[in-house]
Amino acid sequence: MSGGVYGGDEVGALVFDIGSFSVRAGYAGEDCPKADFPTTVGLLAPEEGGGLELEGDKEKKGKTFHIDTNALHVPRDGAEVMSPLKNGMIEDWECFRAILDHTYSKHVKSEPKLHPVLMSEAPWNTRAKREKLTEVMFEQYNIPAFFLCKTAVLTAFANGRSTGLVLDSGATHTTAIPVHDGYVLQQGIVKSPLAGDFISMQCRELFQEMAIDIIPPYMIAAKEVIQDFQASVLQVSDSPYDEQVAAQMPTVHYEMPNGYNTDYGAERLRIPEGLFDPSNVKGLSGNTMLGVGHVVTTSIGMCDIDIRPGLYGSVIVTGGNTLLQGFTDRLNRELSQKTPPSMRLKLIASNSTMERKFSPWIGGSILASLGTFQQMWISKQEYEEGGKQCVERKCP
Ligand SMILES: Nc1ncnc2c1ncn2[C@@H]1O[C@H](COP(=O)(O)OP(=O)(O)OP(=O)(O)O)[C@@H](O)[C@H]1O
Ligand SMILES: [Mg+2]
Repeated sequence: MSGGVYGGDEVGALVFDIGSFSVRAGYAGEDCPKADFPTTVGLLAPEEGGGLELEGDKEKKGKTFHIDTNALHVPRDGAEVMSPLKNGMIEDWECFRAILDHTYSKHVKSEPKLHPVLMSEAPWNTRAKREKLTEVMFEQYNIPAFFLCKTAVLTAFANGRSTGLVLDSGATHTTAIPVHDGYVLQQGIVKSPLAGDFISMQCRELFQEMAIDIIPPYMIAAKEVIQDFQASVLQVSDSPYDEQVAAQMPTVHYEMPNGYNTDYGAERLRIPEGLFDPSNVKGLSGNTMLGVGHVVTTSIGMCDIDIRPGLYGSVIVTGGNTLLQGFTDRLNRELSQKTPPSMRLKLIASNSTMERKFSPWIGGSILASLGTFQQMWISKQEYEEGGKQCVERKCP
């Protein structure tokens, strides 16, 4: 390794995209991530009988993290469900490391020191957290090279673009992120908390009103039932919600794992309507929240007038929640009505479920395997010479 440039492409780089809903990880150059498991983990504190599963590190002693689908399917008394993320950023480093340890040992089955790591980050990640992450990866995982890239930029790359407006609706938030020449325009970021978790919460309320018990009742399994319901029953209306139209909605039959089954009609349209028109959502006081169409137009409106045509011309739709039936049709319709006549609107929404869910990971996979990217890594030597601050310069 000379000149501070990481020159070892003999071992595959790893790409991590840790979202609030799931952790995506795998080798750069592959089509999709090797691992995709829930980001929420079960935590047993020592007094609840947690063991010493993660030894060798004082911080972790006494806590047991139960990670991944199988472990989470075992109901445990006193287990608390937690996430390493808050607002899309790493908040609990202990939990974050437990997830990385699990990924290396159970999915990658290799040693961290052998692989450069490209990680995605929320576009609003803070300087302190970026530096801490860089430090953790070099000091505690001893990786040979590192790179951090914003999710929206990776999504744009996955769609073959370096400029576009990325509309991402995941579990915890829906955001519009303007990307120009491969950089996020921070002043144009618009966020709304109306996304997949909000839809799940409304489904829960519906089941409560209908006195339907979700069985099995423990956290993760109940969550899966609701998510399946979201994907198979709900339908975004193609025009603003109308009670008469909704009343005539063809019903869909849905059976719960416990055998309870019934038909759903108007609620199919009513539940997702809040994403596009928050004005009638119960419990949102004052209601200053923006619907998805407004999130996009507000974001573009905050960017320089010269680049707006490029943004309207590439509205990239991504995130699991955009897979709701009818989502892109409604978005297209709303944006067509709001796009200034001088500009051309183009929605880019992959038909592939995988590409919609994994776009930041796929973008990272492409980026990290480009020959021209190899000089972009922060090498271990650079880190040792320049300290964790080098992430600001190398990964702006
Ligand atoms: N086919 C589908 N139909 C409807 N909703 C879906 C579908 N698949 C996934 N979802 C929803 O998408 C959300 C997860 O999206 P995604 O994987 O993009 O989130 P994330 O990136 O992990 O989280 P975030 O972006 O909030 O940090 C969940 O709420 C899930 O229920
Ligand atoms: Mg996401």
